[in-house]
Amino acid sequence: MVENYKLYIDGKWVNSESGETFPKLNPAKPKEIIGNFQLGNEKDVNKAVDSAERAFEKWSETPAPKRGLILLKAAQILREKKEELARLMTREMGKVITEARGDVQEAIDITEYMAGEGRRLFGYTTPSELRDKFCMTIRMPIGICGLITPWNFPIAIPSWKITPALICGNTIVFKPSSDTPLCATKFVEVFEKAGLPKGVLNMVTGPGEAAGMTIVRHEKVRAISFTGYRDTGKTILKEAGLKKVGLELGGKNGIIIMNDADLNLALDGVIWGGYGTTGQRCTAASRIIVHEKIKEKFEKMLMNRINKLKLGDGLNPKTDVGPLINKAAQDKSKSYAEIGLREGAKLLVGGEVPKMDGFFFKPTLFTNCSIDMRISQEEIFGPIVSLIPVKDFDEAIDAINSVEYGLSSSIYTADIRKAFLAIKKIEAGITYINSSTIGAEVHLPFGGIKHTGIGTREAGWTGIEEFSEIKTVYIDYSGKLQKAQIDIE
Ligand code: UN1
Repeated sequence: MVENYKLYIDGKWVNSESGETFPKLNPAKPKEIIGNFQLGNEKDVNKAVDSAERAFEKWSETPAPKRGLILLKAAQILREKKEELARLMTREMGKVITEARGDVQEAIDITEYMAGEGRRLFGYTTPSELRDKFCMTIRMPIGICGLITPWNFPIAIPSWKITPALICGNTIVFKPSSDTPLCATKFVEVFEKAGLPKGVLNMVTGPGEAAGMTIVRHEKVRAISFTGYRDTGKTILKEAGLKKVGLELGGKNGIIIMNDADLNLALDGVIWGGYGTTGQRCTAASRIIVHEKIKEKFEKMLMNRINKLKLGDGLNPKTDVGPLINKAAQDKSKSYAEIGLREGAKLLVGGEVPKMDGFFFKPTLFTNCSIDMRISQEEIFGPIVSLIPVKDFDEAIDAINSVEYGLSSSIYTADIRKAFLAIKKIEAGITYINSSTIGAEVHLPFGGIKHTGIGTREAGWTGIEEFSEIKTVYIDYSGKLQKAQIDIE
């Protein structure tokens, strides 16, 4: 029996108004249906927004440390359920089990972090230019926040948005990706069990247009936080109107490998960055910029390792690389492999769909890529890596900066000078030295520059900034009218 999952509105699990559902498949075994999920539409979103509106006053007036206790309880439940959630994640979206555990751990970490923020939520005080006048800033909730999340980190990314939004006193309408509605449902259940009052967190599953864009356009929604494809992000920015908008729109991240680098270390980093999560990370390393002096040697090392990567069901502990999320993603990787060949890149490994059930694609490496090829420019979100040879450090910096995106980046070098220059010169929101492009920690800002976003950062203290408003407060206790800028004597 395939289970029918529901929407979560006003503290109740309910069917969508249309009563229509959609099935979600296991990408490693597409015959297995994980569950049926509600096709939410405008009516459901309106109900969810109304519920969030009703819950706002009480929740926003609950002392932040008390809100923190609910988050702490949620973190504890997540810890207890870590293995169960990780296994379910692997079945729903194919991530290998060790990475799925990491995904849940990331949610535990940020939930604990944000619980602690309940006792900070700092504003600041500063002297006034006038006598007997006190100046400070305080943090206020924004109101109803619309959170729209992708499938590639189906618990971690919702947690980056839900937990800071909650601790700041907001109420939420959450629209998860239709590729991972089960993880979203289970994550919402955690907050229900933790005692979150009804209406504070509402979830509507359903299509991007009918459900997602209704949230984006809704006049009562005061903030949107979205992670996903760039074109969707651009539409959201256009349609949101006067709202606070946070965007994280992906990357075409590069790793520079200098001729003085520890090549074994770099090899581990490239394999992890390029093929971890089957290349389906915003932070995946899809471009390897290699000094020509070590190019051939490094290519051999890479081919050797890539050929040993085992494809399969992520629940099998021997599997290194799981499937892609769906058939469209598999077709996309296939078409980019063809584009690479047409553009004249040299295929070293992979480049095709293996003979397996499920949406698999062979880990693929192209070399002799130039910076302007489409495979070196466009986000593929699959296990396809372009190797770009360069003759020196300056050319490497030009190559890494030659894309429209600017999320993550990395350089392997033993030269401290080059490491520091790279920190300064690489155009990205995140730079790693002698480590891969992935591995963000939840108490540091996460986000990017250029087409990756619009300057917002998630997680850590910046997560609090994303989900709060600042009020500036002046308290004049002089007992007379003091005019700023005028009474200056
Ligand atoms: C993403 O790729 O969308 O640093 C998020 C990392 C993870 C988060 C990635 N902690 O790769």
